[in-house]
Order: sequence, then structure tokens, then C-alpha cells
Amino acid sequence: MSTLTLNNVTYKYKSAQRAAVSGISCIFDKGKVYAIVGPSGSGKSTLLSLLAGLDLPTKGEVAFDGKSLAGLDLDQYRRESISMIFQAFHLFPLMTVMENVCFPMELCGVTPKDAKPRASALLEGVGITKEQMGRFPSKLSGGERQRVAIARSLASNAQIILGDEPTGNLDGANTQNIIDILCGLAHENGYCVIIVTHDMEVAEAADVALRMRDGVLRAI
Ligand SMILES: Nc1ncnc2c1ncn2[C@@H]1O[C@H](COP(=O)(O)OP(=O)(O)OP(=O)(O)O)[C@@H](O)[C@H]1O
Ligand SMILES: [Mg+2]
Repeated sequence: MSTLTLNNVTYKYKSAQRAAVSGISCIFDKGKVYAIVGPSGSGKSTLLSLLAGLDLPTKGEVAFDGKSLAGLDLDQYRRESISMIFQAFHLFPLMTVMENVCFPMELCGVTPKDAKPRASALLEGVGITKEQMGRFPSKLSGGERQRVAIARSLASNAQIILGDEPTGNLDGANTQNIIDILCGLAHENGYCVIIVTHDMEVAEAADVALRMRDGVLRAI
């Protein structure tokens, strides 16, 4: 069963002359990693925001498991089905690293006692040490913050992971580490992973590579 289906999706910002996303029809399946590359301004982040239900298309339809997002409770869809890893990290500055990762789990009803070991395992998986887990995000490097953001996005059980340049601040070894984590989640746990990237290493590791140009998405 496919996860996300786009049917002739177009999105035009109110102030804009032309559509940022233009007539896209495609299917994103569970169990696969998709990479989207393309020049700045080609509509990649806009497309992700439509997939995340942050905006609805001006024309056409995005459907999740066969149901149009237009008819769903979008807050619930975002909370339960979508994990986002942003270009900017959006970590909570007044919470420690550990608290940042526990928080989304606790929002979903996991007790603090159960959340902590899971958060610790997720953070260790992206190379964050026990000592760093007790720090505030401002006391980490950019790459470390990015890895915390990734661990936090994995804390919920959402089936769809959307990443906007999730490896943008990482060196080669850490990029490979994140690629391995994301591929493992798709191939072994059935997640649908869709990432926007400028990194050819990431695009090559994906199951499907797509190119966005002037709001139109094509296979590479
Ligand atoms: N809030 C907005 N209002 C009006 N136009 C916007 C808005 N956000 C983005 N755009 C325009 O929509 C187009 C697509 O933007 P988008 O952010 O999706 O590009 P992108 O491919 O993610 O670029 P980048 O690689 O630089 O992040 C651009 O022409 C941009 O100027
Ligand atoms: Mg963008």
C-alpha cells in the first residue's frame, strides 16, 4: 500500500506570480528512501510542507493511505504520521538534549520512565555522548545539533520521515551514519523517508532519486 499519493498537485503562494509547485503527480511508498535534488527556489521545501500537511495544495490532492489530507485532521496527521527534520534544527533552547528527545514521546503518552532509555539509545545511535545529553543545544556544535534533531524526529513512531537537508551540517562520516540510519528505518522498519538534499552521496544512497526544477518533479 502506498503511503503518500500526489495527484496533479499545484501550490502558488498568494504573493507569487507563478506556482512554486506545479502539477506534480507521484507516489511515495513505504519501505523506500526518496531523495529530491534541485536548484534553490525550485520548490523542494514547498513540496515537503504540502506532504507534511502544513499547507494544502492550491489545486490537486495529497492523499495519505488513500485519504485526502483535505479531509483529515491535519494537527493529528502531523503529530501521528509525520516526522520532520528541518534545515534549521528547531530544538527547544531551554531543554537539555535529553529532554528535547523525550518531549515528543511524552506528548504521545509515553511515560518519562520509558522515554529516557529510548531517547538515550536514539541519541547514542547518532553519536551523541551521555555527557552531551545533559547539555543545552546552544552548547553543541551545528553538526551535533543536527544529529539531536534527527534523534528527536525518530522518537515518535510516525511512518513518514521528511527531511530538509538533514545532512547539511555534517561531515562525511556523520553523513554516512545518518544515511545508514534512514535506510535502516525504511528497509527494515517500513518507514517512508523523503529527503531534500544537495548532497550527491545521499542522493546516490536513496532508492529513488528525483529532481525538482521550476516546481516540476522528475525521475533522475
Ligand atoms: N512564503 C512565501 N511567499 C512567497 N513565495 C515564496 C514563499 N516561500 C517560498 N516562496 C517562493 O517559492 C519558490 C520555491 O521556494 P522553496 O522554498 O520551495 O524552494 P527550495 O527548492 O526549497 O529552495 P532552497 O534550496 O533554497 O531551500 C521560490 O521561488 C520562493 O521564492
Ligand atoms: Mg528549501
